[in-house]
Amino acid sequence: MRSLKTMINVALPKGRLGEKVYDIFAAAGYECPSIHEENRKLIFENEEVGVRYFWVKPSDVAIYVERGAADIGVAGKDILLEYSPDVYELCDLGMGKCRMAVAAKKDFRDNPQKTLRVATKFTHIAKTYYAQKSRIIDIIKLNGSIELAPILGLSDVIVDIVETGKTLLENNLEPIETIVPISARLIANKASYKFKNSEISTLCEKVEEYCRAEEQKKK
Ligand code: PRP
Repeated sequence: MRSLKTMINVALPKGRLGEKVYDIFAAAGYECPSIHEENRKLIFENEEVGVRYFWVKPSDVAIYVERGAADIGVAGKDILLEYSPDVYELCDLGMGKCRMAVAAKKDFRDNPQKTLRVATKFTHIAKTYYAQKSRIIDIIKLNGSIELAPILGLSDVIVDIVETGKTLLENNLEPIETIVPISARLIANKASYKFKNSEISTLCEKVEEYCRAEEQKKK
């Protein structure tokens, strides 16, 4: 009888970043060929190598991992800073690089005496940032198209992710301060990390080794 391999459940962020991450995992030895089939399935597994992948909304990855529905996952540092999920951050994958920044209309002139109106999806990050600067702000929580807020006079500034800067530029906005650099992180459920330690550590080492080799190639 063939011995059953311990399966590692991996939550991947649906979208371009998740696909790149899957390619890295596959290259590191955790391939799951059925993932390439044309269908709308959300779960794929390869018992031979002991891996099961789930496609989840990027901002939900940490929830699946924190609650143990997934053993490990890939989440942006933005989500980890915003929600502080109770998970282990295993490594920086060095992908999905961008930054959390403050941006405003090109002609914006700040008056430090006035309450600053800040529109953002990332209310915790924004509040922490301005609290450190002892600046009084009025937080306006939005769920998307944040760039509209200063254009329509809903806010003075926005706190949002800037990758290429194209969205800001095309909407006549400009970044004025960088809050923190962001990249994709490999995270693990705390209990899984204990009970599937050798499997998770091996996966993490192989993925890190692959990422390091790719970095070397670029130099
Ligand atoms: C993010 C962010 C900006 C855009 C920045 O949105 O909110 O709108 O990317 O990227 P750029 O600097 O390369 O133009 P995302 O596409 O993740 O969608 P969202 O509106 O759902 O956050």
